[in-house]
Amino acid sequence: MSIFCNRDLTPTQNMLPVEAGDLNPQSSLKQKQKYKNMQNHQVNFQCEIMAIDDTPANLHLLTNLLKQNGYLVRPFPSGKLALAGIQHSLPTLILLDIQMPQMNGYEVCQNLKANELTRDIPVIFISALDEAIDKVKAFTVGGVDYITKPFQAEEVLARISTHLNLSRLEKLLKQENSLQAQQLVEQNCQLQEINQALEQANQELKQKYYQLQQAQLQLVQSEKMSALGNLVAGVGHEMNNPLGFISASIQQAKPLIFDIVEHLKLYQKTLPNKSDEILKHELGIDLDYNLEDLPKIIDSISMACDRLKNISTSLRTFSRADKDYKVPFNIHQGIDSTILILKHRLKANEQHPAIEIVSNYGNLPQIECFPGQLNQVFMNVLANAIDALDESNQGRSFEEIKLNPNCITITTSVENSLVIISIRDNGKGMSEEVKSKIFDHLFTTKAVGKGTGLGLAIARQIVEETHGGKLSFNSVLGEGTEFIIEIPV
Ligand SMILES: Nc1ncnc2c1ncn2[C@@H]1O[C@H](COP(=O)(O)OP(=O)(O)O)[C@@H](O)[C@H]1O
Ligand SMILES: [Mg+2]
Repeated sequence: MSIFCNRDLTPTQNMLPVEAGDLNPQSSLKQKQKYKNMQNHQVNFQCEIMAIDDTPANLHLLTNLLKQNGYLVRPFPSGKLALAGIQHSLPTLILLDIQMPQMNGYEVCQNLKANELTRDIPVIFISALDEAIDKVKAFTVGGVDYITKPFQAEEVLARISTHLNLSRLEKLLKQENSLQAQQLVEQNCQLQEINQALEQANQELKQKYYQLQQAQLQLVQSEKMSALGNLVAGVGHEMNNPLGFISASIQQAKPLIFDIVEHLKLYQKTLPNKSDEILKHELGIDLDYNLEDLPKIIDSISMACDRLKNISTSLRTFSRADKDYKVPFNIHQGIDSTILILKHRLKANEQHPAIEIVSNYGNLPQIECFPGQLNQVFMNVLANAIDALDESNQGRSFEEIKLNPNCITITTSVENSLVIISIRDNGKGMSEEVKSKIFDHLFTTKAVGKGTGLGLAIARQIVEETHGGKLSFNSVLGEGTEFIIEIPV
């Protein structure tokens, strides 16, 4: 059982500094309020004092003194009994004699300090030993104070009051500290969560930025391609009408011209005695030769018309505007029409012989795709191959190039439901550093105005993201490069 102290336990001024902030003149109102709360709290402070002394007269005297001053007291005549008794209820403070049989005060104190439950109970030694060394030992084993016998009642009461207050304030401080520690842990957790959320948001932002860049690139490129497409489609269309007219007229003229030739030959046969004027004209225009040649010329015109028609069809194939859904497409037509657009760059000139195109076309099915976009991929890869060949020609003479001619080999096949298109050149190849960057946006090794550094980034996006395929490459510096486009059938 415990009682409430009715003594005035208000701490002395000596106890105030740390709490009330005398040492810290700028201590906040908040701290002062906290201290006030602590003071109010002491009204309910339960104080039970354990007195341990083997001299009955001393124990009696102490017990009475404390009781008279409103404390609840539990007297014990030996350390052993006290240690056993403390298990039932914990006192607020312990008054401990040193010289006792069986177990002295120091040992009792060491036992108390070794136990988690009793460690924080303040122990005041009361002893007749007056040597400094005894006092030092008392503090070393964990005592908080030392009173020498014979004691003055006022001194004992004052010291008890002081240590009770100190102990209470210490407990409050500990509680406050553990509360703050807990709050810190919670705040730390919250901060970690916020940090995680921020990191995730950052990742999402990066992803969005990347997508935006991609979209922007594609927009720029498709803008260009659509301008080119419009031009090519326009040229193809404009070519078509006069071409149709020439072709139809030639077809019409062909039998007429043959008839006229036949007719002239008939004249020659049936009218052998020509006038001088006719003979002279006949020799002047080399009539026999012309009559032989004219049908051939007409055939050539007719063949050229057919070629022009093919070109016109290719132009329209290349510039096909994509619908917003995939359509069946003949990949070979796409590649051929792209080569046609690039024909002017393949032709021989003073610096180099023609670039040879070797087509090893396999038996491909039509594939569902966006033809305009795939043509754009062929265009980017083939244009790069031509650039690489041009660069490898730098510093080589026409004859040297002829010995090891520029060549682009295009091979197509179907394997495991994939259409595989390989475009290989024997151009300058790439260094390891270039290889690691070719798909980066805006990476180019070409002169300003020549390269944009967008071609392969766009090509990869079209092949991999739009068509679910793969764009890969092999390259050896000084030997050449192969790009492999794989598209699911
Ligand atoms: N066939 C190739 N041979 C050698 N290098 C190539 C080849 N294709 C691409 N590259 C390298 O990749 C770079 C990036 O190509 P690309 O994205 O098409 O941009 P650009 O052609 O505008 O430079 C080129 O500048 C070049 O260095
Ligand atoms: Mg390019």
